[in-house]
Amino acid sequence: MIQVQLINDLKENVKAAKQAGKSIGFVPTMGFLHEGHMSLVKHAREENDFVIMSIFVNPAQFGPNEDLDRYPRDLERDTKMAVEAGVDLLFFPQAEEMYPQDGGITIRAGAQADVLCGASRPGHFDGVLKVVTKLFHLVEPTKVYFGQKDAQQLAIIETYVRDYNFPLEVRRVPTVREEDGLAKSSRNVFLSEKERVEAPLIQQAIQMGLEDYQKNQDAEKATLVTIQHIENGTSGNIDYVELLSYPDLTNNLSNNKSIILAVAVFFEKARLIDNLILNNKGE
Ligand code: PAF
Repeated sequence: MIQVQLINDLKENVKAAKQAGKSIGFVPTMGFLHEGHMSLVKHAREENDFVIMSIFVNPAQFGPNEDLDRYPRDLERDTKMAVEAGVDLLFFPQAEEMYPQDGGITIRAGAQADVLCGASRPGHFDGVLKVVTKLFHLVEPTKVYFGQKDAQQLAIIETYVRDYNFPLEVRRVPTVREEDGLAKSSRNVFLSEKERVEAPLIQQAIQMGLEDYQKNQDAEKATLVTIQHIENGTSGNIDYVELLSYPDLTNNLSNNKSIILAVAVFFEKARLIDNLILNNKGE
């Protein structure tokens, strides 16, 4: 596996891959890899000739009181996992090179960012769009892979790519879960033993809420079912439980749209998110 830290080295390798007529599959990450990331690589591997992974804990997407410094990092372990997964090139830039000067130009996500995580993390998705813009320009991917666990991020990036004609395809990859249903996340390491036992209830609560919605078509009641299950079974504090259309993320839940039931819960040292999406056939 090729390992590069500098943008120019990345560009040379991208140029060589393009000249050789290779398709590029891209997996952008913030590192501390887990099976969710490995699943993204697996899909990228199957569908492309050359797989690039980036590891960059992007300061632009963390608010002033968020966990940028505490975000878990282990480049040595990540490198081994990337090799095992079949990544061809690992790009791990420095913040100084990614963001050398501030020309005052910002990219703002639209209304999709005003709900769910965007409501409690103002500016977060602007920061995500800032880094993916740079990464997409540098990596020039044919296809780029995002997990459905970060469903709001995925919806916003899909919209951005479509609206601004990025010459690439966004691929949705299903959430990877632990055996007990907890969605894999880099933040799970911050759960206490007790919280780790409680956390799978989030997924169960979402399922119960969706089943209720399928029966009664009442979004308010369905979210209440979910809230009650989380409140009764965990010590976490709910940030949000919302049932919205997907991917536009509005309250317009007409029958011909997919819907998402999305949840965020604060535990002592970790904020966990999870969701389930139902298409218009109820699958
Ligand atoms: O999902 C993530 O890990 C990050 O938000 C991303 C897409 C790599 C941008 O920093």
